[in-house]
Amino acid sequence: MSDLLWQKPGVTVDAGIQRFLAGDDVLLDREFFLHDIQASAAHAEGLQRIGILSGDELDSLKRELAQLADDFRAGGFVLDERYEDGHSAIEARLTERLGDAGRKIHTGRSRNDQVLVATRLWLKEKLARVARLGREIARVALDRARAERDLPLPGYTHIQRAVVSSAGMWWAGWAEAFIDDAVRAADTLKLVDCNPLGTAAGYGVNLGLDREHTTQALGFARMQVSPIYAQLSRGKFELAALEALGSATLDLRRIAWDLSLFTSAEFGFVALPSQYTTGSSIMPNKRNPDVIELMRATHASVAAARTEIEQLLSLPSGYHRDLQASKGAIFHGFGRGLAALELLPALLANLEWREAQLRAAIDSGMYATDVAVEAAVAGVPFREAYKAAAASADSAGQGRTPEGSLAARVSPGAAADLRLDELQARWEAL
Ligand code: ARG
Repeated sequence: MSDLLWQKPGVTVDAGIQRFLAGDDVLLDREFFLHDIQASAAHAEGLQRIGILSGDELDSLKRELAQLADDFRAGGFVLDERYEDGHSAIEARLTERLGDAGRKIHTGRSRNDQVLVATRLWLKEKLARVARLGREIARVALDRARAERDLPLPGYTHIQRAVVSSAGMWWAGWAEAFIDDAVRAADTLKLVDCNPLGTAAGYGVNLGLDREHTTQALGFARMQVSPIYAQLSRGKFELAALEALGSATLDLRRIAWDLSLFTSAEFGFVALPSQYTTGSSIMPNKRNPDVIELMRATHASVAAARTEIEQLLSLPSGYHRDLQASKGAIFHGFGRGLAALELLPALLANLEWREAQLRAAIDSGMYATDVAVEAAVAGVPFREAYKAAAASADSAGQGRTPEGSLAARVSPGAAADLRLDELQARWEAL
């Protein structure tokens, strides 16, 4: 870090202290750098609109910002420890290239402003991705629910055989779950879709900044009005975004559990294409479902990120450097969570049911609930019907088939009335 923009004469900069302050900031800022550049261009436009920059100055600033973005993408410009952070790196580069016009870019903004707008744009992108993935995953689940509607599956509670279920019901469950996850991501996107740029360090600035222009130029749905709230929302919005992501990774964790059990020799219900399994380095007989297990593990990272930010937010109003640590949390949480969700549509599309094993796992007792409900429908008070069915659970299956049990499961949403059209309508509205 050669040259600090804020450095004052006579103040010595201690390298160890600076290293601690920067932490891994400069590395993390790589993730947000292009968004910072994009927002810097919008800020420059706003400054030109209120007469702080001339048309020529704006043109050259925008040209150099575009060049910087190209260089960064191509690896010609590396954001590293020569800089304190991504924000100062942009200003330093513009100053180096354009002299005074470059120095003017920072008029009426602070680095707090920059980090807020850059991470806000980043969060919007990630939430849109979660919503799109939720939609994709729900699509696969809906299609398979339709195609495998009548395939009998053992239904479990407490990991004990409980009642006859179906692949249709299993898939419809995940379809509805991921539709909700997509809705939640989109709703959270709407919450965070507001422009914090132009709030300076959290107290506004003595200039009539054209915040309407930057709001529109950056594609935000609205302006985040209060500068104080802009700072208060840092972390709070990150938490909301991680919460939305966590809805999806939690559902993923439960699917992964089902698949871990179902692919075990003890259940043997599901076969995975070989690319989803890895061999053991010591036990030649094994194929391990490592992909599923690492997918299951990602919710831990999302939950950790949420907890980290929640603990960070124990702060008075206004900016505090503590907030810097929220960047690592969202980077880690979204990095892990999205990587796992990206693999899920193809995994779900490719898993195969082993029908003989599924059928063999449906035992007589799994019809006992059918027997009890039938007796109740015929007028026997349910508690008596229940006791009688319990006593004869071993023979409950006599004359019964999984198909018969499923055909009689007529309550709305259950096997004989899956209401896939209702789910389809919600999917289309996503
Ligand atoms: N790196 C800081 C952050 O992520 C932004 C820069 C503000 N630094 C400062 N000393 N005010 O929050």
